[in-house]
Amino acid sequence: MNTIIAGLQWGDEGKGKIVDYLTSSADVVIRSQGGNNAGHTVITNGTKYILHLLPSGILWDDKVNVIGNGVVIDPVGLVAEIQRIESQGVAVTPAKLLISDRAHIVLPIHKELDAAREIGLGEHKIGTTKRGIGPAYADKINRCGLRVADFHDSAFVTERITRRVAEANEILARYELPTFEADAVCAEVFTAFERLRPHVTNTIAVLHAAWKAKQTLLFEGAQGTLLDVDFGTYPFVTSSNTTAGGACTGSGLPPMAIQRVIGVCKAYTTRVGSGPFPTVDEGLSDYLHGLGREFGATTGRPRGCGWLDTVLLRFACMVNGVTGLAVTNVDGLDAYETLQICTGYQIGGVLHTLPPAERDAWDQAVPVYESLPGWKSDTTGCTRYADLPAEAQAYLARLAELCGAPIAFVGVGPDRAQTLAV
Ligand code: GDP
Ligand code: IMO
Ligand code: MG
Repeated sequence: MNTIIAGLQWGDEGKGKIVDYLTSSADVVIRSQGGNNAGHTVITNGTKYILHLLPSGILWDDKVNVIGNGVVIDPVGLVAEIQRIESQGVAVTPAKLLISDRAHIVLPIHKELDAAREIGLGEHKIGTTKRGIGPAYADKINRCGLRVADFHDSAFVTERITRRVAEANEILARYELPTFEADAVCAEVFTAFERLRPHVTNTIAVLHAAWKAKQTLLFEGAQGTLLDVDFGTYPFVTSSNTTAGGACTGSGLPPMAIQRVIGVCKAYTTRVGSGPFPTVDEGLSDYLHGLGREFGATTGRPRGCGWLDTVLLRFACMVNGVTGLAVTNVDGLDAYETLQICTGYQIGGVLHTLPPAERDAWDQAVPVYESLPGWKSDTTGCTRYADLPAEAQAYLARLAELCGAPIAFVGVGPDRAQTLAV
């Protein structure tokens, strides 16, 4: 069975952990969108790994990992990530990691252009990860991007980088940001690319061969549905389709290759960066930060935390076609006496059960809550769904009912072993 893992909130739902859990029964793990704005945490046998561009299956010796055509690759960042993960004892060989020849490249200038754009937006800034994701996807759509396959022609790459550096420098100078020397950019990018070259291939052909051979494919989504450039809280979104459809366009596999969509959400809600967040709750944020939790895996920024929002989840289950939910961080609510679930928003006297499209509607959205009793006990040692306290099972059942999708997995701690199949 081939499976898409999709984030249902604003990212950081615990996708890495669920992908890792399901990788034991997969042959190929595929990233199909986003870039190193992602930060996926996997903890196994007490060792913590944070993956940005590498698919989480890299931690397994016998799995093939694909960075698909829909991903934007920062070659310098990817080489640094490979070195980091190799220093943790994980081999990154051409047999284990395949990079699409059609993927687009994030250049050092894109990161600075990302920063410049944020400065230009002032108080309306997106709160990006400053990894150059937006500017790189903009070049792709503007048809002036560089692709992995272009590197067979170094003269073309040099010419393209030189032109883009000159254009970028004009913008950067306006913001008094550091400008670039084209020669230095070329040298840095070409050096990084040499480490990656043995991994480059036509991943579309490889994936189709794996599909025909009935291998098991696992798509590792990055970001989350409310950060999707079409379905998210625009403009406070990322620059790719983070939802299930992105798995197809970003890999070259057709929809009929996929049988299952697991939507990952936390038992509460978090968000990092700017943008609307109707159920944000200072008390819950302070409590989770006090436990050392909910700091971004990529930027270290504290994530805002709030109550479970089923307006978002209902919509996310629809657009992803979720067949099963993976609810992580249930243990984060262990200490609470009473829990709130948002079932709708009141906007200008009208009840909404789906997210609004208008930006100003978000500012007026007042969450409608339903209270449920907490379980006030430690769930981190539970090894079966049936071990969960009755109140936790009731909370999850209500979540599933409000979202219209069944619970498939539950997370009660960050370790690989703390995942319960339902
Ligand atoms: P991703 O981007 O969706 O892969 O999620 P991140 O790794 O950015 O953030 C999820 C955080 O929650 C990480 O610190 C994980 O180690 C942690 N995590 C995942 N599942 C659970 C869980 O069930 N319980 C607890 N306590 N932590 C979890
Ligand atoms: P994973 O895969 C959480 C957010 C940023 C910002 C917005 C746009 O770990 O869930 P970008 O750098 O993409 O242009 O930033 O999107 N963002 C994420 N938030 N998890 C992520 O990835 C994110 N990737 C981007 O904080 O609000
Ligand atoms: Mg993350």
